[in-house]
Amino acid sequence: MRQEPWTWAQVPNQTGRVAVVTGATSGTGYEAARILAACRATVVLACRNLPKAGEAAQRIRVLHPGARVEVQGLDLASLASVRQAAADLLGRFDRLDLLLNNAGVMVPPYGKTEDGFELQLGTNHFGPFALTGLLMDRLLATPGSRVATMSSNAHRMGRIYADDLNFERGYRAWAAYGQSKLANLLFAYELDRRLAAAGAATRSVAAHPGWARTELQRHAGWISWLRVAGLESLLSQDAFGGAQPLLRAATDPAVKGGEYFGPSGFQEMKGAPMPVQSDARSRDEGLQRWMWRLSEQSTGVVYPL
Ligand SMILES: NC(=O)c1ccc[n+]([C@@H]2O[C@H](COP(=O)([O-])OP(=O)(O)OC[C@H]3O[C@@H](n4cnc5c(N)ncnc54)[C@H](OP(=O)(O)O)[C@@H]3O)[C@@H](O)[C@H]2O)c1
Repeated sequence: MRQEPWTWAQVPNQTGRVAVVTGATSGTGYEAARILAACRATVVLACRNLPKAGEAAQRIRVLHPGARVEVQGLDLASLASVRQAAADLLGRFDRLDLLLNNAGVMVPPYGKTEDGFELQLGTNHFGPFALTGLLMDRLLATPGSRVATMSSNAHRMGRIYADDLNFERGYRAWAAYGQSKLANLLFAYELDRRLAAAGAATRSVAAHPGWARTELQRHAGWISWLRVAGLESLLSQDAFGGAQPLLRAATDPAVKGGEYFGPSGFQEMKGAPMPVQSDARSRDEGLQRWMWRLSEQSTGVVYPL
């Protein structure tokens, strides 16, 4: 029997729950935060640009009167900022039901984070790894809590460049993006296995948005050619559509730990969210453990698991 596609209308009532969404100023993070607020969660927009975050929060309040939306400063390209944000969040909220590791950058010019990591690996992986670890005790203490991490179809072209993680011998922007999005999946799966082994009720899941029309493509010039050729709208979906796999991974009661969600259409580029498969490299448990140890050493954040 064919199942009806999942829609955001199936997000359970979130009254009394606290959700932190990183990178919620625009794109999929904004849309996921908006829907969670509409479903009555207290939603924290964890963002580096506070004026932009304040405007996003206000837009949500106007669209959904009564929405509980707050802002937290967080720059994932700075471990000091991540530590401060985690300390603030622990002080502000006595529970944490959902952590949506959504924020990310794609193919920017070469740069490094404050701590010397290549910008994409640092922002997309090391920052979220540290944030999640620093919030882990609160997640563990909150019944039914979940961590949902945004990856990408680009994980398929990803390798972990163990001998030159920070691309110091020559920058290849797409290879670095692929590395960071593979790291997201290695993290999400390893975290779920560690949670299960510890007997914790917290779950870790992952998602990807397919191709969503957001601000992410600002550094990918060829996409404007597809736009001119009229192909972009054919192949992609809007930010709201792109947020659905993350929302489903975070809230569908039927989801199991370690599952990965993406769009159901052609090449997983658009369509209703469904469980999807990631490639073999992302499922390599040896690589997952190696990346975990490296991430603990690199960030100085050791998980209480
Ligand atoms: N769009 C797609 O087709 C696509 C495909 C695959 C995967 N993804 C993934 O989806 C996620 C969301 O991307 P999007 O498409 O919604 O792009 P977006 O509109 O550019 O949103 C990215 C968000 O991340 C935030 N961010 C960037 N660097 C940050 C930092 N150092 N600290 C804190 N926040 C930071 C941005 O903040 P500012 O407003 O301050 O820039 C923004 O809120 C990313 O993880 C991306 O890799 C997207």
